Amino acid sequence: MYLTDEQQAILNGEKGETMAKVMQTLVKYGEIFGATKMVSVTGKHNHLVTSFGLKALAPVYALMDQLIEAGAVSKQTFSVDPRPLDKNVPSNLLLDFIFKNFMYSKQDFYEGQLQKLGLMDKDAFTCTCYMEQVGNKPQKGDVLSWAESSAVVYANSVLGARCNRNSGIMDIMGSIVGFVPYFGLLTDEGRKATWLVEIKTTKKPEAQLLGSAIGMKVMEEVPFITGLSQWLGTELDDAACTYLKDMGAATASNGAVGLYHVENLTPEAKEQGAGLIAEGVKVYVIDDAELQRVYDSYPVIWKDREAKPKLCFMGCPHMSLQQLKDWTDKVEQGLKAAGSTKVVIPTVFTASPAVLKEFNATPYAQRLKATGVITSYICPLMYMNNPLAGKMPVITSSNKLRTYTTARYYTDDEILVQITKGGK
Ligand code: F3S
Repeated sequence: MYLTDEQQAILNGEKGETMAKVMQTLVKYGEIFGATKMVSVTGKHNHLVTSFGLKALAPVYALMDQLIEAGAVSKQTFSVDPRPLDKNVPSNLLLDFIFKNFMYSKQDFYEGQLQKLGLMDKDAFTCTCYMEQVGNKPQKGDVLSWAESSAVVYANSVLGARCNRNSGIMDIMGSIVGFVPYFGLLTDEGRKATWLVEIKTTKKPEAQLLGSAIGMKVMEEVPFITGLSQWLGTELDDAACTYLKDMGAATASNGAVGLYHVENLTPEAKEQGAGLIAEGVKVYVIDDAELQRVYDSYPVIWKDREAKPKLCFMGCPHMSLQQLKDWTDKVEQGLKAAGSTKVVIPTVFTASPAVLKEFNATPYAQRLKATGVITSYICPLMYMNNPLAGKMPVITSSNKLRTYTTARYYTDDEILVQITKGGK
């Protein structure tokens, strides 16, 4: 791999032994993927995926200490994925005990380390760091060192930034040294579409279901999606961005998509159009029947398929301000139609602390609270990733949460019926 004099000097130890190790790690990472050079990380902020003070991550804490002691901190400040704990989220004594004393016993300690390393704000914990309220929104063409899959796919596709699907820890390494290996989605060639996905549905597809279908078909390749702008329009307004946030997270978790293009809508597709499509592209047609096939293929891994749901999680990835407002209206209307006033399943809507702060300053917050819905900044996946919570019948409209946990997927409309009336 070609290294500039500056990069070679870091590798040779001119900025200390720790920095040399960080550079060496990145060079090796790049070599595995055939990188030809290292390029500068740009933008004011980084984003880290490792947000949780899991007791089992002792080597991470030792590594972070080593970086802090050596002064190997990046010039970029950073946001981090959501916190795993929030006392507002319904739980029980045993779960609380396990969370605090076993699973996430290092949370406070780890957050202290993150602050020393450059956390941009003490509450900058969310996977939707690119929301205006959070303030970590990369510019088109920025080169990033992120790892959170839902944020990477959003930054690449909707914002036109450039980022590979890095792993946790590798994200902070790139930011510290200021360079990342040049391969994959950083290159023009790697951003070309090898799948043409034609949407031919009779109504606007459910974002999380469409993303799931695309992800499972194209896996880690890049799709060019046609037929979607008839439902989303041709401008990246709030509604389109929210849709693409949810669709993208599903493509990235049900498959391993790091970038998609939407004809007439996403920045590179608008600029380059069909020029983004690689030779020998494969075609995938999605119609109503195909979406139904995908929906029907999801396994239900609850012990009792007929169990009454004990919890509903919405907001994976974290909800936008407008989503919280829209859902307040929907829940109120659903309850009115059902002749009741409170949701019948404990329901948690998750969003970033910054979005929740703004939401709480609107009249919607009191209205939502009156329906019994709880808001939280938690990551539902962190909450569910243990044997106790895993046994709980949880429902969600997040296809990422469905994929990684025992949660059962329903469409948004079905969720609304479940939480306001009970039953499907
Ligand atoms: Fe975000 Fe956690 Fe879901 S990081 S995308 S809320 S799994």
